[in-house]
Amino acid sequence: MSVNAPKKIDSVKVVIGDKTVECPAFEGIENEKSFDIGKLRDQTGYVTFDNGYANTSPVISDITYLDGDNGVLRYRGYPIEQLAEKASFVEVAYLLIHGELPKKAELDKFVKGIEENQTVDSNFYKIFDAFPKNTHPMAMLTAATVALSGQYPNDNEITNKASVEKTIYRLLGQFPALCAAAYRHSRGESRISAKPGLDYCSNFMSLMYAKDGSYSVPKEIVSALNLLLILHADHEQNCSTSTVRLVGSSNANLYASIAAGITALWGPLHGGANQAVMEMLEEIQKSGGDIQATVAKAKDKASGFKLMGFGHRVYKNFDPRAKIIKKACDQVLNALGIQNPLLGLAQQLEAAALTDAYFVEKKLYPNVDFYSGIIYSALNIPVEMFTPMFALGRMPGWIAQWKEMIDGGTTKIGRPRQIYTGYAKRDYVSIDAR
Ligand code: COA
Repeated sequence: MSVNAPKKIDSVKVVIGDKTVECPAFEGIENEKSFDIGKLRDQTGYVTFDNGYANTSPVISDITYLDGDNGVLRYRGYPIEQLAEKASFVEVAYLLIHGELPKKAELDKFVKGIEENQTVDSNFYKIFDAFPKNTHPMAMLTAATVALSGQYPNDNEITNKASVEKTIYRLLGQFPALCAAAYRHSRGESRISAKPGLDYCSNFMSLMYAKDGSYSVPKEIVSALNLLLILHADHEQNCSTSTVRLVGSSNANLYASIAAGITALWGPLHGGANQAVMEMLEEIQKSGGDIQATVAKAKDKASGFKLMGFGHRVYKNFDPRAKIIKKACDQVLNALGIQNPLLGLAQQLEAAALTDAYFVEKKLYPNVDFYSGIIYSALNIPVEMFTPMFALGRMPGWIAQWKEMIDGGTTKIGRPRQIYTGYAKRDYVSIDAR
């Protein structure tokens, strides 16, 4: 049940030749208008074409509001700036999944649920041993996440509320350990178990870096990680979230749906951009730091190069997450006493792009990935783990979006149409006659 049901507004008339189709229309609470073209093909033979779903909304959702023209992002109505400053990541996870900020007892129960389900079975870990050491961690994480459905075969029923609750706790609880296992595997280090009683971020850092026995995580690192995870926690119908919903619309189980989201996130145009930004900055540094040459290359279509960490499908103004991260970047580096020349390069590159006519006209601004890698580096997280960090943060958003769809019970299986441009009918030719 939506907090606010979509409001019916005057239907939209689509006129095609001598046919007029009345399409039911409705409006969300922030005045986004939409009309339903579901019957268009039956009545006129036409489908709509929308490259990259850029103007299509297959979802009515209560979770996240994003106004790309004005740089606004809210989770369940709460501005991202307030959550980033005041909340914990686990609180935000609860908010996204259950719709309200938790009361103390609700948060305690949620944390307990995560802690009770955070231990990865030692046999299960062997899945990592099957991979060569140089495997990208996103490949290992996709495999491990979908394999959890085999580890817990009795909880794959998507309409069984108790099973779904356990699955949610396991995903939130075990994913940090799986990320750390992927990291440790690439270094030939043995895995360690999660420790109850640690907050979410300290637990993650211990899983990654503890050697023998205890590992104390500086508070600056905990709060920087908490901030980054909150900023990544949801972003409405982006590529990976739409993938989670699309796969989930076939009634695939939650582990399988999330694993598909992890794969979608991996690409450099989506979550893989944070790794690509660092590689781009390192490349600029190696080749002498020529910022103008980089900007020129990004404007030259023939180069095939884009300024990574710039541009966004929806934000045509500053990405509010990028603003927060940029500020945090300075603070974290100062607090940890780290000087990273790549930060200076990134600032110069941003300034050059923001005053360049090409970027101004196309409304290309830094996105969440532009500065996040510099903070991750300050936390000692290697470049290939940046996208897994994004996945760790996005986990509650993926879960919330899947749960909203399944609980709503009205979503049809995702099955778009196409415009066929291959050969018209032709007859089979035997192999000797080809
Ligand atoms: N560098 C240079 N040019 C860029 C650009 C970038 N980072 N991002 C977009 N453009 C240009 C496109 O070439 C296009 O130019 P055109 O109108 O002359 O053809 C125009 O700006 C519109 O971009 P388009 O690629 O059509 O937008 P999109 O909504 O399909 O793509 C992104 C959005 C995010 C995929 C795209 O901006 C991009 O590839 N950015 C770099 C990767 C990145 O940082 N991804 C993380 C997103 S959070």
